[in-house]
Amino acid sequence: MTNIYLDYNASTPIDPAVAAAMRPFLDEAFGNPSSGHWASTPAKAALEDARGQVAELLGCAPDEIVFTSGGSEANNLALKGTFFSLRDKGDHIITSVAEHPAVLAPCRFLERLGARVTYLPVDGTGRVDPEAVRRAITPRTVLISIMHANNEVGTIQPTEEIGAIAREHGIRFHTDAAQSVGKIPTGVDSLGVDLLSIAGHKLYAPKGIGALYVRRGVELEPLIHGAAHERGRRAGTESALLAVGLGTACSLAMDLEPMARVRALRDRFWQALREDFGDDIVLNGHPEHRLPNTLNVSFVGVIGAEILAGLEGVAGSTGSACHAGRVELSPVLAAMGVPERVGMGAVRFSLRRSTTDADIDAVVGRLRSRHGADAGWRHG
Ligand SMILES: Cc1ncc(COP(=O)(O)O)c(C=O)c1O
Repeated sequence: MTNIYLDYNASTPIDPAVAAAMRPFLDEAFGNPSSGHWASTPAKAALEDARGQVAELLGCAPDEIVFTSGGSEANNLALKGTFFSLRDKGDHIITSVAEHPAVLAPCRFLERLGARVTYLPVDGTGRVDPEAVRRAITPRTVLISIMHANNEVGTIQPTEEIGAIAREHGIRFHTDAAQSVGKIPTGVDSLGVDLLSIAGHKLYAPKGIGALYVRRGVELEPLIHGAAHERGRRAGTESALLAVGLGTACSLAMDLEPMARVRALRDRFWQALREDFGDDIVLNGHPEHRLPNTLNVSFVGVIGAEILAGLEGVAGSTGSACHAGRVELSPVLAAMGVPERVGMGAVRFSLRRSTTDADIDAVVGRLRSRHGADAGWRHG
């Protein structure tokens, strides 16, 4: 049976064009971008070209891009960097309960250092109410951090509305766009953000590279102190190899047209499952404001991990996690108010541009035959 990978929200392969662009930096172009001699010139030029490519995708200037090791570091830099640089102004951060751990854990860490953090709830579709953001603002608020799109259910937040509220109050606004870049528009001005995180390995670049967009004039204390790399925002010799990978991937991500086909395929997938499973299947996430590649469904009364385990060769992910031998409901689904009996059966399928009709038909077929064959499908 052929393997079918439907876990592109977890990670993507490196695009062949990305690998080809990186190749020279594995071989001869090894120089330190900061050296200032002939061996550094290609690396320096490539680093700056890559910065331009990332900036073009986000609709900003190249000097507003800071390369990081990935999405987690970008989020940490946005949150901790803001807290440390604006300590005199305030100590209050607004975020949501549905954020990725790469936002929630830095918030918890900052609470240990005296920050006060408001964790806003989400509704049944996973969305934050912009008016709740407005109500949470205090004279001590220094940062609002609400993700652009959720990794588990794909729900897209009302980012533009939150951005307008942040602007109105003169408060810095960060969004974690690790999942949305390359899937939906992520122009920083239309979103109204001051800081935006991206993760290379979610958009066909290698792991180990990401970026933080930092609006001009936004002061940030670095996480890594040292020499003046990245305009003093992140010390450490830059990797032209990885930056070229991210830059090339960002150029490829500029064309969002193929996502219309992905959305149609994802919706056909859902319809097919609805026909087979009827009321035994539930869609998790927002019906419309959702990443076009993401389908998170609950097989009611079943454990998601068991379904995936029974789907030979299919890579997806579950909404629950095993902690200390006990299966627990994902915090995101719990925050959405999804009942345990439904949430435990959650499975996330995430597609890419080249996912085929045949891939989806095969997964539907494998689910169908398992459903038909397994009398114990429902545990009640
Ligand atoms: C929404 C979101 N933010 C941040 C991250 C972390 O990114 P990275 O793995 O590049 O550190 C991920 C990855 O799972 C994510 O989905």
